[in-house]
Formats: sequence, structure tokens, C-alpha cells
Amino acid sequence: ILPAAPTRASAKPVKPKRVGAPEGADPGVVSWVASVAELTEPRDIVWCDGSQEELQRLIDIMLEAGTIVPVPKRPGSYLARSNPDDVARMEDRTFICADDAEDAGPTNNWRDPASMRQVLGGLFDGAMRGRTMYVIPFSMGPVGGPISKLGIEITDSPYVVASMHYMTRVGTAALEAMHGTRDWVPAVHSIGAPLADGQQDVPWPCNPTRYISHFPETREIWSFGSAYGGNALLAKKCFALRIASVQARDEGWLAEHMLLLRMKHDDGRQIHLAGAFPSACGKTNLAMLQPTIPGWTVETLGDDIVWMRPGPDGRLWAINPENGFFGVAPGTSEATNATAMAMMDHDTIFTNVAMTPDGDVWWEGMTKDVPEGLIDWQGRPYDPANGPAAHPNARFTVRAEQAPSIAPDWDAPEGVPLDAIIFGGRRPTQVPLVLQARDWEHGVYVGATVSSQQTAAAEGPVGEIRRDPFAMLPFCGYNMGDYFTHWIDMGHRLGRHAPKIFSVNWFRRDEDGGFLWPGFGENARVLEWIAGRVAGTAPGVDTAVGVLPAEGALNLDGLDIDEAVMDELFEIDPKAWLSELVDVEAFFGQFGRALPTGLVRQLNHVRWRLEHV
Ligand code: GDP
Ligand code: PGA
Ligand code: MN
Repeated sequence: ILPAAPTRASAKPVKPKRVGAPEGADPGVVSWVASVAELTEPRDIVWCDGSQEELQRLIDIMLEAGTIVPVPKRPGSYLARSNPDDVARMEDRTFICADDAEDAGPTNNWRDPASMRQVLGGLFDGAMRGRTMYVIPFSMGPVGGPISKLGIEITDSPYVVASMHYMTRVGTAALEAMHGTRDWVPAVHSIGAPLADGQQDVPWPCNPTRYISHFPETREIWSFGSAYGGNALLAKKCFALRIASVQARDEGWLAEHMLLLRMKHDDGRQIHLAGAFPSACGKTNLAMLQPTIPGWTVETLGDDIVWMRPGPDGRLWAINPENGFFGVAPGTSEATNATAMAMMDHDTIFTNVAMTPDGDVWWEGMTKDVPEGLIDWQGRPYDPANGPAAHPNARFTVRAEQAPSIAPDWDAPEGVPLDAIIFGGRRPTQVPLVLQARDWEHGVYVGATVSSQQTAAAEGPVGEIRRDPFAMLPFCGYNMGDYFTHWIDMGHRLGRHAPKIFSVNWFRRDEDGGFLWPGFGENARVLEWIAGRVAGTAPGVDTAVGVLPAEGALNLDGLDIDEAVMDELFEIDPKAWLSELVDVEAFFGQFGRALPTGLVRQLNHVRWRLEHV
């Protein structure tokens, strides 16, 4: 069985020396680390300080082990090739272990905490034998910020430690902030590959048995078997979304799967916007958007996770709790995301991309032509018969400060006041380029009815449409029905200060399967209309499903696009919408009494309007 979650008053005092804890570490932290070490039996323990020297040591260890190879064309950059069976999040191995199954809700895999502790206790027993156990104290958000939170990840994977260095604020300041408090999240990760004496290691050790387990009541995370980002960098999806969503429910704030940006015009207009799209549906790209319309610039604040809280002024204030970007490589190019290309020209960890003979990285969509002599993501000479050169979920990991578009105040502890929230997904038909929700409750309905084609970011059938409310289906740590209620309540609390809510769809297709909308930098046109709606200047027309841009309200200056295509992008087919409502109703139905009546009201209203057009 697993050791108990850390308590404030440690039951049995442990000598810090025994686990090599730094001077002054909180006794509760030290005794928890000691209990994990006792269970997992590592060869040694390293407390991470987040320094450049530490990162260099990790890189040397990984080079030596063959986990990474240098990318000579990009200083300070490396390529990791994972085990081919460890390339994405595994939703069917992700568990919410709430005491009561009701609290996990119908959309999560629930397991009884006591029996899960038993299973994990067996797996973690001796799991780190022959390996180094790293203790990573980190802060999500600037240390001590009003929206920030603390955590400790224990792992036996140097790849995870190096990635955490980029993705979170690791180090002594975070450890010191944990003194005298239990308000930090304990997270344990093991690749589950103990080494016997003299046993030869492999470049990417992992275990086919996998558990990504969350204990919302004790705020714990235990992850076993995988070293892939979303399964192993426990600060990210596991803490900042699954555990934080529970904290947010209990403490009156929101933890969301969103990008965060500021769009500003030379004339002084500006908006702060957060956007929820499912994994691999355009968050990172939108966060780094280079507007094609004159006068506008986008400053990046975050690309994956947003924590937001009502501020003293009654508005919703938002931070990006992360410190870096873990982005999808395929499809990234000078044409689609020049900002991302520039930020990865040094100090980047690439995972599962291809390599060129002259020592650079490559992936599908980076250049039109496929370079000669590629080595594919599995280290073999590239042969199209083996599939793509880079894995479709190949990733780059970089520090946020490397993005040329990063906002100068991106790590302001108090965050930014939010003006607009957008929801989107990959919808080849039916969903218009943009619409505005009529009010907050309708906006919650729009978020709750997001659906999208599945992508390579998680194991599963790519291309199939599934409901993914708020892009949080795989990330909400509690009953999604209660989550909807929490959102509706937030609207009441914010009142007239509530951000305006919109839906967007960059992915509508023509009969030949091509995208109707050029996307990427051109998406600024849609954001400009949104800014206009927030300011009360852009005209809209009310329809059964929401407010669409009025004739001529969307800025199409300089864009070569047929009027017929624009019509198709905004076409609302009442029949298709009505038949989707059947699916929405079934989806809502599974929440039973947890479903807020506001959503039922919205559904009935939309149906009534569709039936009367
Ligand atoms: P994230 O995982 O939500 O951050 O998604 P990304 O921004 O990394 O994008 C995932 C994939 O969608 C990449 O291959 C992008 O090139 C592609 N993508 C992003 N934005 C757009 C867009 O506006 N239009 C089209 N057609 N593709 C896009
Ligand atoms: P993302 O997910 O595609 O939303 O960036 C990252 C992950 O797979 O953990
Ligand atoms: Mn992303």
C-alpha cells in the first residue's frame, strides 16, 4: 500500500540527512520524501535546485544513456526518441480515485482509492531500484503569487526532470515557500523499470503497465509506467488541470485547458482572451498568432493552461501557471507559426521528431519537400512505408521566455483581466467560423457542447468526433456535471464583469476535404470581430445558435476568399443542428441530477429556436 499523503504535523520525525534534504526543508516534506524512498528503494536521492548546472548534469546523464542525441544545428537542443509504445497520453489508463464514484462522474475512469493504493503500492514497491530518485519542488505561477500553487514531483526519469525545468518554476524558492504549510501537491512518478546490479539500461526505459492516478481528496498524483509528457510531467495535465480543477471548485476559481493571449492595436485597443481547444486543435498556434491584418499584434501569455480567479475589482484575472511550452511539432512551419520556429532555434528538447543528415530536426509540414536522407523518429532511415518521419504527436519543449511573442508581463503574479473566452474544436461540418453566446449561461452551454475530432495527442481513434466539453473531458478531476454548475455559479459571481463567450471553428472543410478557412495568422480577423463585440462596436446578427457577424462585420480586407466559401463557413443547417441535439441530450443525460437546470433550459431554448426558423 502507498504511504499516506503528507500531513502537516509529521507523525514520525525523520532526520533530513537520511534523504539528503536541503537545510531548512519542511519536516512534512522531508518525511513524505522519506516514505516514498522507503517504498521505491532508489539507489540515491537528488533534490533539484532548478539551476543551469543541474540541467547540464541531467543532459550529460541522458546523452550517456542514449535517451537524447544532440541537435547540432540548434545550440543547447536535443532529440529524445521514446519507446514507440510511449508516445501520447493514455486516457484509458488515467484514473480519478475519489472516495465516492459520483464525485468522479460518468466521464472519468473511477477507481476506489483504497484498492488503487494497494495496486500502486505493489507496483511502486522497489520500482526505483538501481536508479536515482529526483525530488523536484516547483511552483505553478510565480512563487508566492495570489493565484499560484506549489507542488513536489518525485521521479526516476532524468527526461522528466529536464522537461520540468523548462515547463515549471523548479527550485529552492518553491521548496522554501512550502515551509509550514501543507498547501502543496505531492506527485510521484516512476517509469517502473528498476535496474538490477550490472543490468544494461535502455535509452527510454518504461513499463507496459501504466497507471496515471489522481486522488482528488488528498490532492495526490501517482503515475506509473510512462515517461510521455502528459503522463509524466505531473505538474501539467495531472496537477494544473485534474487536481487544480478540484481545488478551484472548492476554493472558488477556475483551472482550465486554455491558451491566454493579449491582442492589441496600434490605436490603443486591446483585449485579453482565453481559449479552450482540445489537444492538438490549435491552442499553441493561436497563442503565437501573427495577425495578417495591419495594426494588430498578439502577445503570448500561455498556450495550454489558464488559472483564473475573480479579483478585488470583480473581474476575472487569469494567469498561465506554466513556465514553458510543450507543443505539437508536426504542422509547425515558417508559414503557420514563425514564432514557434524562432523560439525553438536553441535550448529545445524535441521528442519523436525526424533528423536530417546535416543535424537538424524535421517533421511533416515543416517544409514542402521532404529532405533526403532523413532518420525517422524511431532512429531508422526514413521509409514512407513505415509511416511518417516524425510521430504525429512529436513534441517540442521550450521555456516560455524564448517565444519572441511573449508578453513582457507574462509572469505578472496577479495575471491579466479577461475580456473574452473562446471555445473551439475540429468540426469538419456544421459549426460556423465564429459565433457569440447570447449570455454567460448560453456560453456555458456552448462550452459544454464542444465536440471535436480526436487527434494523435492521446491514444485512440484519430478523426472520430467526440464530445469534449470545455476541452476538459480528459482533464476534469471531478464530476463534469458539478463542473458545469461551478461555471454557471461563476457567471453569477462575476455579473456584468463576466468575459464574453464565443465559439470558433478553424477546421470546417469543403467536399474535397480541404480547409475552407486559411486559419493561422488569418484567425486574427475573427479575434478582431471578437474585440469589437467586447467593445460594443462590431455588429452581429442573432440566430438560433448564437450571434454571428453581421454582413460586412468580419474584416476580409486583403484576403483572397470567395463569397461562396464565406457563406459556407457561416452556414447554419437547422436539420444538422437539431439532430446533434439528440446526441447532446444523451450526453447531458448521463449526468443525472448533477446536470444544472441552466443547461437544460439552454438546450430547450436552442431547440425551440431551431424548430422555429
Ligand atoms: P494544441 O495542442 O491545442 O496547442 O494545438 P497546436 O496549436 O499545437 O496545433 C495542433 C495542430 O493543428 C498543428 O498541426 C497545427 O498546425 C494545426 N493548426 C493550428 N491552428 C490551425 C488553424 O488555424 N488551421 C488549421 N488548418 N490548422 C491549424
Ligand atoms: P496538448 O496536450 O496537445 O493539449 O498540448 C499535451 C499532452 O499531450 O499532454
Ligand atoms: Mn499546445
